[in-house]
This record gives sequence, structure tokens and C-alpha cells, in this order.
Amino acid sequence: MALPNEFIEQVRDANEIASVASSYISLKRAGRDNVCLCPFHSEKTPSCHIYTDTQSFYCFGCGAGGDVITFIRLIEHLDYVESVKFLAQRANIPLPEDSLDKRAEAKQRMLEINRQAARFFRDILLSEKGLPGRQYLQQRQLSENTVRKYGLGFAPDSWDALKNHMLSIGCTERELLDAALLAQKNNHSYDKFRNRVMFPIIDRRGNIIGFGGRTLEPDAPAKYLNSDETLVFHKRNSLFSLNFAKNTKEKYLILCEGYMDVISLNQAGFDNAVATLGTAITPEQARLMRQYCEEVVISYDSDGAGQKATMKAINLLGEAGVEARVLQMSGAKDPDEYVKKYGADGFRLLLEKSGGAISFELKKLALGLDMDTPEGKSSYLKKAVNLLASIENKIDRMVYINDTAKLCGLNAGEIEKAVDEKRRALAFAARKNEARELINPPKKRGDGLVPHSLLSPAEKAQRGVIAFIIHSPDLLPKIEKRLSEEDFKDEFCGKLYGAAARRIKNGESVDLSALGEEFSAQEMGKITGIIRENSLLPYQKERLEEYIRVLENHRDRYGGKKPSELSEEEMLKQMELIRKKVGG
Ligand code: UTP
Ligand code: MN
Repeated sequence: MALPNEFIEQVRDANEIASVASSYISLKRAGRDNVCLCPFHSEKTPSCHIYTDTQSFYCFGCGAGGDVITFIRLIEHLDYVESVKFLAQRANIPLPEDSLDKRAEAKQRMLEINRQAARFFRDILLSEKGLPGRQYLQQRQLSENTVRKYGLGFAPDSWDALKNHMLSIGCTERELLDAALLAQKNNHSYDKFRNRVMFPIIDRRGNIIGFGGRTLEPDAPAKYLNSDETLVFHKRNSLFSLNFAKNTKEKYLILCEGYMDVISLNQAGFDNAVATLGTAITPEQARLMRQYCEEVVISYDSDGAGQKATMKAINLLGEAGVEARVLQMSGAKDPDEYVKKYGADGFRLLLEKSGGAISFELKKLALGLDMDTPEGKSSYLKKAVNLLASIENKIDRMVYINDTAKLCGLNAGEIEKAVDEKRRALAFAARKNEARELINPPKKRGDGLVPHSLLSPAEKAQRGVIAFIIHSPDLLPKIEKRLSEEDFKDEFCGKLYGAAARRIKNGESVDLSALGEEFSAQEMGKITGIIRENSLLPYQKERLEEYIRVLENHRDRYGGKKPSELSEEEMLKQMELIRKKVGG
């Protein structure tokens, strides 16, 4: 643990949450607690509660929540450690410089371990054992130069090749687990990456912070495996190949989905390509790109998923203040395939042709419509008017209205009239909505927690068990005998359960302040929501028992799979079983 727990507790106890919050926003007393207008989203009626007993806050409007440290993270835009320091200063508590030095030291050590691991993977690639990797990279048409430039390597098909090597050069098993190079099962650790081509992930300063590994097995469960989050690896604010792209002479970056796309583009001379690391683009990544460019050309796969992700990227880049353009590709499924098929010049043409985000959306609206028929035109126009009405800047709006008019062979004035009318209707609806919210505040907005009342029994049970563990960490051994991380099908619950179990076993705290160390401020809101909704019911062992039973039944019913993961055949079998049970 980076900052000592006692120090964090001392800082938290010295900063009463209501007193801290009141220096940013005015509070109204409500019994023992306080309410205020939420400082993290705009609202007219207070839905942010500040709880005295648990020293936490939770906004029922946007789902922001946490302890006083999370509050400072959000409101001052600081990271966890900076927020603790900020509050320490506020309360005149001297910093334990030692532990901050230790944290920096631990990071340095982990980076060194990653460097050694990358070296091992590279040496293997060049050795006899690396033949499958070399053949694979050759088949992907990567030159030796490119392989060297990206420091690519190969993890052999072995459970302990890396582990043994790293132990032999003086690393400990604990360090390798912390660096996420080893995985663990039943107290036995083994190489996480096996039979995979290895892509070191390098930050802006040239540090190797993690790895992506591509399997050579056609039917491996995961084509790409990425390092888990560590002290030095945070996927949400890293971009693959930014270490090269940050020096580009171009004024824009090319955003791709995959490692291979970026590497192929680099080989073809586009040094300004970057990719997210196996996740959808995050706001942090959008802001990171803004530091290096004015414009991003989104160059996602041409399949449905890629196009959907494009919409998300347009929105996030827009919010970060980056101009987004969209590259549209046909004849190839991704940039890697495209440059191989049509060459660098072909791809450059696509870049030049790539249009603004609104053009992309306007074009998408025409998909599947026959624009030569009046019906096609009319249904296109209805959708286009909605989109055009959402453009705030009047000049931009006129430009796109003109484009649309040309496309439909209509008079721009007519379309403008329809758009203005739509804008008036939208403004009216917004006012009406506001009035409605004043009377009846909404239960949930934004991408916070799904309200408790809408959850399935299994989801309630997952959140419930977690609340029990946070409330009484000593329950963990008992719970672990019956449930495992796999029983927590909700992605966030699974992550939270895994983290809580690990912390408890390492003798670390699972209170809100301690969890803030590894969960983002947004996730802290969800955790606070889970604790809140469960604190309304008594923490009795009958309730826990019921939750565990629900999860056990759920596991048996679906053979350990999510309903959405069942094949049609499995689903039919399950339905048959249920029918039999109900019938007899
Ligand atoms: P793709 O499956 O589109 O990658 O995933 P690709 O580049 O076309 O793969 P190749 O060409 O077959 O090697 C795009 C990105 O999504 C993440 C990886 O970051 C990958 O680069 N991903 C994909 C995963 O994290 N896990 C997966 O199982 C698959
Ligand atoms: Mn590909």
C-alpha cells in the first residue's frame, strides 16, 4: 500500500465531510444529514446527500458519491494521492514523505521489472523457441525494423518460462504478481502470457507500463490479453504508440481499435496512429489526445461494432474539445488490412476524404433508405432535421442544412424552417422537463448505478454480498467457501468482489477511503450507492444467506454462464429443465 492506512484515516478524520463540502457549495440541514445542489452535475433541486454517520456523500441525480477524499478528487480534479495530500494540508497534518518516496520507488521497481520482462520476450522471439512468433509476424508482413521499433517479443508456450527467468535475476514472486506478469490460482502462480506475441505498452516518457499479448491459437478464448491494472498501468489514461505519435509533424492523430492497425500504419509511414488498450475510448484518453493535437481522425473497423464505437468516440472527443473526423473504409475490415491491400497512398486518400463527425452521422442516417423515392427522402429528412437541430453553432448548422438540401434535392430554406421549428420544440420540452424534475426529482441520471428497484434478484444479491463484505470484512472466509469471483456476473461487481477479497487477504482495509486508492472517482460513486442502498436494510445473517443462495442457484441454473452467453441449444435445454421443474 502506497500511503499508510493510518495516515489516510488520520487525514479523513480530520476533515469532516460536511465542513469540506460547505467550502464549495451551500448545504441545507436535513435531520442529521445535509443536502445540497450537486456540484457534479447541473440541477435545480438538491439531490446530493451528505451523510454524517458514514462521512460519505451520494448524489441520487448523477450517481457521484464517495468519502471526503473522493469528493476532493472530483471537485479539485486531483488524483487519489494528491487529494489525500490536499486534505492533509487543509488539516495541517504533515505528510509522511517516506511513504511517498516508497511509492515512487515501488513504481520505479515495477517499471524495471517490465523492462526486464520485455527483454526476455524479445530474446525469446529471436531465439529458437521464438520461431512460431517470428513466423506469425512475418505472415502479418511486419518488417524486422518494425518489430524492433515496437520492441515486440514472444511469450513461449510454457507455464513458468518467464517466472523462472525473472526469479533467477532477483525478482520476487510477489513483485511479479504485482506487475501482473503472473496470474494466480489456488495459491499457485504461473505465467499470465503463454504462446502469445507480446506488444509492450510504452508511456509518453518511454517507460514500459504493461503488455498486450496476441495468441497464436486460432480458437483461444481471448485473442488479445492485456496486462491487468497495476501501480504503473492505467488503461483508461494510456494510448498505445503515443510515445511515437506525440512527435508527429501532423496536426492530427489517427485513432484505431487495435495494436496491429497502429503498427501497420506506422510501417506504412503514418507515425501519428494510436489505439486504446482493449477498451472503448475513455474521457481521459480523449483529453490526453487533446494535449497533442487539434484533430483526431477516427479510424475504427468497418464492421457494425466499429461504427457504433465511432459514435461514442465522436461524443467523447467533442466533450474534450477535439475536432473529430471519421475515416470510412470499404473493401477491408480494418486499417491494417486496408494498407496491406491498397498501400499507404490508398490510406492517405481515405484520410483526405474523411469528413467531419456530423457528415458521418448524416450519412449514416441514409443507410438502408432509398433516397430516390419520396418515402426514403421523407424518412431521411425527419431524422436529419433532428440531428441538424442539435447543432448549436448557427454557421455550422447552415453548412449542414445546405449539404442535406443538396442530397435530397430540396430547398435549403424549407429545411431550415423545419430545423428551427424543431429547435423551438426542443427548447420547450427542456423547460417542461425541468419543471417536472422540480416537482418530482428523477431517481437516476448519467451512467451511475442502475436503481435498486430495477435489479434482478441475482444483481441485488451480488451487490448485497459485496455490501456485507465491506461492512464486515471478517465474513469473507465464510463467503469464499461458497462463492467465487465468477458468481459475480455483473462486470463491476466481479471487479469489486475480486479487489475486496484480495485486499482483505493482504490485510488491507476495504473502507471507502482505502478503496479510493484503486477505484476511479466515478467507480467510487457506484460503490457508495451499493453501500447506501444496502444500509437501508439490517445486516443480518439471514439476509446474507439468502443472497448467497440466490447466487448459488443462479450458477447451477446457467452452468456458470451469463444467460446472454448461452448458445441457443443450451438455452433450450435450460428452458426444458425449468419446464420440467415447474410441471412436476
Ligand atoms: P480486433 O479483434 O479488431 O483486433 O481487436 P485486430 O487488430 O483486428 O486483431 P488481429 O488483426 O486479428 O491481430 C482490436 C483491439 O481490441 C482489443 C485489443 O486491444 C485489440 O488490439 N482486444 C481484442 C482485446 O483486448 N481482447 C480481445 O480478445 C480482442
Ligand atoms: Mn486486424
